Formats: sequence, structure tokens, C-alpha cells
Amino acid sequence: MANLTKLEDIVSLCKRRGFIFQSSEIYGGLASCYDYGPLGSELKRNVRNAWWKSAVQMRDDVVGLDCSIFMHPLVWKASGHADKFADIVTVCKKCNVRSRVDHLVEHAEQHTEHVPVETALKDAKDLSKKKCPACGAVGQFTEPMPFRLMFETQMGANVEDSMTIFLRPETAQGIFVNFRNVLDTTRVKLPFGIAQIGKSFRNEVTTKAFIFRTREFEQAEIEFFCAPGTDEKWFEHWKEFRFKWYTELGMKKENLRMREHEKDELAHYAKGCVDVEYKFPFGSGDWQELEGIANRTDFDLRQHQRGMRTLNSWYEKKGDLSKIELNSESEEYQKGPLSYFDEETKQRFIPYVIEPSAGIDRSCLAFLVDAYDEDEVNGEKRGLLRFHPALAPVKAAIFPLVKKDGLPEIAANMYDDLKKYFSCFYDEKGAVGRRYRRQDEAGTPYCITVDGQTKEDQTVTIRERDSMKQERINLSQVKQYLREKLDM
Ligand code: GAP
Repeated sequence: MANLTKLEDIVSLCKRRGFIFQSSEIYGGLASCYDYGPLGSELKRNVRNAWWKSAVQMRDDVVGLDCSIFMHPLVWKASGHADKFADIVTVCKKCNVRSRVDHLVEHAEQHTEHVPVETALKDAKDLSKKKCPACGAVGQFTEPMPFRLMFETQMGANVEDSMTIFLRPETAQGIFVNFRNVLDTTRVKLPFGIAQIGKSFRNEVTTKAFIFRTREFEQAEIEFFCAPGTDEKWFEHWKEFRFKWYTELGMKKENLRMREHEKDELAHYAKGCVDVEYKFPFGSGDWQELEGIANRTDFDLRQHQRGMRTLNSWYEKKGDLSKIELNSESEEYQKGPLSYFDEETKQRFIPYVIEPSAGIDRSCLAFLVDAYDEDEVNGEKRGLLRFHPALAPVKAAIFPLVKKDGLPEIAANMYDDLKKYFSCFYDEKGAVGRRYRRQDEAGTPYCITVDGQTKEDQTVTIRERDSMKQERINLSQVKQYLREKLDM
């Protein structure tokens, strides 16, 4: 078994086979932004679909949502992002490079995501012995200061009505602000979840490791609402459910683990949090976060009730968030507009929330790294991606053995039929062995070859990627065969 142990190998495979390219490459690239190519966009769509199928389609207690990236600015005041979503940074006086303070302290690599501002400030006390990661200068740092991670932009065509808004740093808040809408328009009853997949944006100080940490990325989040007191049980449920999602899609168990957050790592809203971590082989071979599962209590819905009470002041201060204090909570907050009425107990309360929050791009990277393997065929190295069929960008490749004797016509007919059901690829160029290798490296589970015998007995060979075993089956059975094998 071989692995992609160097980041350069992963980047090179992704580029060579059209999985992932640097954004704006012909202009020299844009740092930390990436584009998914023909194979990569299929992989990413399959990861998204597999998540949606498991989180929404197959569950009776989760519904979907797709909300806008731009949201009312007060959303971010209420959620805490406007004031607290910052990294504490320092600038090297020698080379001017900005670094996250928590990335300068020992063991920092464990804490890959944003640590609470208070914790980062505590860690920032003594930088006199810390080394600049860019130029190596020791103790040459400016005073640590907060650096806001949300991107700002202007909305509105006229100067008078233009206002500063933010690109969302998480998809979660779109779910909280639609809680009432979903309650009022569907028949959901507690406990239930709302799921969303979409782009999020963070002006990360340290971007890292290809698509692992970028400034524009895609999240897949569920906010699962439940009665207070049942939250611990649901937290356990989601930990197990989400861990299984990765292993059922073929990720090796030995490369996955759960890590509970230390108290000083917990975000301001969380009562408890675990990360699903993957042992990425690059860098120092560290375990890194794939997904966070948090118990957010009733924090967000209560905060948005306060946000709703602050709207008048927002108008008075002409939308200047820096001048606005969030209004205090009503004493009757349990009966507020974002409360839930339980028909059975006849009680009204603010639900608790369990949030599994995954990254689509980060999952793609982990699935790619985990699926990569090398073996030897007839003394030659074979590189392959052992993708689970649900994730494989192409499900079946169809080849005529040679480009004559009517074989291309039979193969092309079969391709035209199969592509209605599966994503397929037709290839008639070059030696068939080389065509197999190309598909192995793209992770295609099945290759179907039309040869001379096909004309005699209507059979074709189907070759399986991992075992390379070939069997002959009747042309008319190919669709059914693939349906069963691919479970589609
Ligand atoms: N709503 C909670 C939340 O956003 P998070 O731990 O900040 O929590 C959840 O993000 C997941 O989103 C992470 O586990 C990761 O997979 C993904 N993610 C976060 N920041 C990212 C970035 N800069 N680049 C790529 N993925 C990121």
C-alpha cells in the first residue's frame, strides 16, 4: 500500500488529472483560492450528494434549506461574529508578515481552527522567544491585535442607501434565522434538524495545505433542534452518525478519530464540542479537523431574539454596527418569537441545538488522500484511486478494443444508453492497457470493453478497478450489472 505522503504529490495528481487547479492560474494564480476541474467537480458534487442523501433524504427528521450568502448585518452582531470572530495576530517587524498568535505558540498545530479570542489573548502574553514562521526573526513582533475574519462589501447602488454587509463566515446562521419560517410552513416537530450546504468566506490569516484551509470554501451543516435536557443524548447520536458517514464511504478507520475540545478551545456558544479528525499524511502527519460537532445550547435562537429587539436602534444609528449594542434579553424570552410550543407538554421554550458542521472541500481532500494507492502490474507501477462507487467521478468507462470492424459503433451505442443513468466516459484512443491505467488513476470503478467476440455472442468484458478481475457478460445486462454493483 502506498500513500500520497507529500502535499506536492497530491497537488500534482490533482492538477495532472484535472481534479483541482489554482484559481486564475493564467494570471499567476490567486492565493488560497482553487477551482475544481472536470473530475474534481464531479467528485465534489458526489461528496455533496452523499452528505445530503444521508443527512436529509434518508432521515425523517431533517429538512433542507438553501439561503442567501448575504444576510442582514444584525445577524452577525447577534451571532457574535461581528465582535468575536477574529484571530489575534501580530506582525513581524523584520519582514512585515502577519501571523496568528496561536500559531506561534507551542503545540499550535493541534489548534487548527479559530480559538476563542480570550484564549488567544492569554497565549499572546510573551512573544519574546517566538520565531517568525516567514523569516525566522525571534521576538520581533508588534503588539497582538484582533483581526476580523469576515469579508466586508457594500450593498446598494446609491451612496445614500448603500450599507456595509458581510459575506457569511458560516452557513449556520441562515438556518437559525429561518427557524420560524420552517416551523410555520412545514409539519416538523421537535426534535428535528435543518440542513444546508453552501459557500462560506473567511479572511483566514494562515491559509494552509492546498484546499485544507482556504478563504472561500463550502460547508455542510445541520442545526438539530431538540428539547433542553435531551441535548446530551442527541449530541451522542450525531457523533456516531457523522463518524459512520466517513467510514461507510470508504474512509479508513485507522485514519479517523474523535477529539474532544479542551475547555479553553470551546467557542463562546458551545457547551461541548468534538472534532472528527483525519490523519492527513502531509506536514508533520498531524491529525486535523474534518468536522466539528457542537452542542450550541439555546445560544443562537436567544441571540437572534435579542437581535430582533435591536432593529430600531440599527435604523437610528444608520446601520453602523460599531455604534450598536445588542438589546438585552426580555425576561419572557422563553415565550419569544423564536420559541417552540410543545403540544404534548403544553410548554413553550427555546430549543437546544446540536450542530454537526462539515467542510465539503476538506472532505474531498481527505477522500482523495485516503483513496490513493499504488500497486504493481506486470512490473509496472499502477497509481489508482480506490474511491467508493458513490464518490467516483466517473462510474464506467466504455472502450472499443480497436478503432475498426464496427466496434466503435457498438461501444458508442452502449455509451449513449448508459450515460442516461451513470456518469460515463467513452475512449477509443491508444492501447487498451493505457486506457485502463488512466481510468484507474481517475478512480473509475468499471471499464467495459467491446471486442471481436462481442459481434459473435453479444458479450463484453467488464473489468473491476481494484482487483482488475475481468468477466464477460451479455451486452443487454450491463446496465443492470452496474446498477447492482454501484448501488444506484
Ligand atoms: N458553524 C460552525 C462552524 O463553522 P468551524 O469549525 O469553524 O465551525 C466547520 O467550521 C467546518 O468547516 C470545519 O471543520 C472545516 O471542515 C470547514 N472549514 C472551516 N474553515 C475552513 C476553511 N478556511 N477552509 C476550508 N474549510 C473550512
